[in-house]
Amino acid sequence: MKIEINKASRLKGEIISPPDKSISHRAIMLSSIAKGKSIIRNLLKAADTLSTLNAFRTLGVDISEDKEVIIEGKGRFGLKEPVSVIDCGNSGTTMRLLTGVLSGNPFFSVLTGDESLRTRPMGRVIKPLRQMGAQIMARQDDSYPPIAVRGGGLNPIRYEMPIASAQVKSAILLAGLYADGVTEVIEPVKSRDHTERMLPSYGADVDVSGLSIRVKGGIELEGIEVDVPGDFSSAAFFIAAALLVKDSDLTVKSVGINPTRAGFLNVLQEMGANISVENTREVSGEPVADLYCKYSELRAIDIGAETIPSLIDEFPVLCVVASQAEGVTTIKGAGELRVKESDRIKAMAEGLRKMGAEVEEYDDGLSIKGSATLKGADIETYGDHRIAMAFSIAALTAHGKTTIHNAEAVNISYPEFFSTLKELTG
Ligand code: S3P
Repeated sequence: MKIEINKASRLKGEIISPPDKSISHRAIMLSSIAKGKSIIRNLLKAADTLSTLNAFRTLGVDISEDKEVIIEGKGRFGLKEPVSVIDCGNSGTTMRLLTGVLSGNPFFSVLTGDESLRTRPMGRVIKPLRQMGAQIMARQDDSYPPIAVRGGGLNPIRYEMPIASAQVKSAILLAGLYADGVTEVIEPVKSRDHTERMLPSYGADVDVSGLSIRVKGGIELEGIEVDVPGDFSSAAFFIAAALLVKDSDLTVKSVGINPTRAGFLNVLQEMGANISVENTREVSGEPVADLYCKYSELRAIDIGAETIPSLIDEFPVLCVVASQAEGVTTIKGAGELRVKESDRIKAMAEGLRKMGAEVEEYDDGLSIKGSATLKGADIETYGDHRIAMAFSIAALTAHGKTTIHNAEAVNISYPEFFSTLKELTG
């Protein structure tokens, strides 16, 4: 599907961001391995989270989907051996976290995914999970999906992670629930902490101290009720649009502002963005607020490795914002962006250049000269949802028509993205 987008004269209105994708995945997983019923309100219904729901159905969990999602948890050892391969679709979170869960389970399973997911590195979860005692094999010397797991009999480990990754951290913590003793993960830089925030509400024994997270194995989790807050990473596209398009005024209601996710908000404020954060409150252990965003004249900024994990999924739209900020914005220490749903450094450099911006690409980032006068172009999204959405926002500031190819990729995290865009700019 191709979508054509023209320059917008303004963006006005109020949105409720779609439910948080990361929290939705975790709520499905923890509810499935807990004992008894869980009720999840405001679960994200998008392709990635449906991959997780279907995976747990294949593992024998009863899940009913209505306004609320009700999961009849099977308990720690209640999952059953799947009779077929589990398809994780495009979702790295499904594959990596599920590999952690399956490592604890004494049966055989195989995980695969779409063309993009099958090129994403899995050695980063396979290595520590094998150290815990799981038998895991994968393609190309145990590096890429499909992954075959025979789990069970885990021992706890203390693992210093070589890269900051919430998916790797969470896979180890989930496996740690099945190990006999305390499993400890030490991060190089703090990554999103939804797993360790959510686990105690299911009854797990978790201790967080700085960059170290410890989980005690052998405890049976119990079903709970969870409310999923709005996804800051989805809201980020419209927040950026409101800042970049003159005369804009946007309210984002009930969006998660967890500090491990809010790096983009801090960076925008440093760049001079007119955003006010109000009505801060807590929803299911996560900080949530309403954001008021107005058109702003932005200044360039330098961003380094220590900031990247807290804005990892906002990188594509941050590049678009940088193209409209006065001066040269440099983003370094972002090598992980090359192994996301697409090579996001390459995709952003290529598309922004096509639209007329000056971009220099590095192995681990790029620099972008602003404020650029963008012109409409044909954009290759590489089937990546966040690349499609980022260039849709760039298109609002560009002269002429921009064509977004493979625009259906937005269904991965934000199925209503284009209808919301139309409403806000209409
Ligand atoms: C996610 C963690 C991040 C992020 C991804 C979702 C999660 O990946 O990019 O979209 O839910 O844990 P890494 O932590 O592996 O970088």
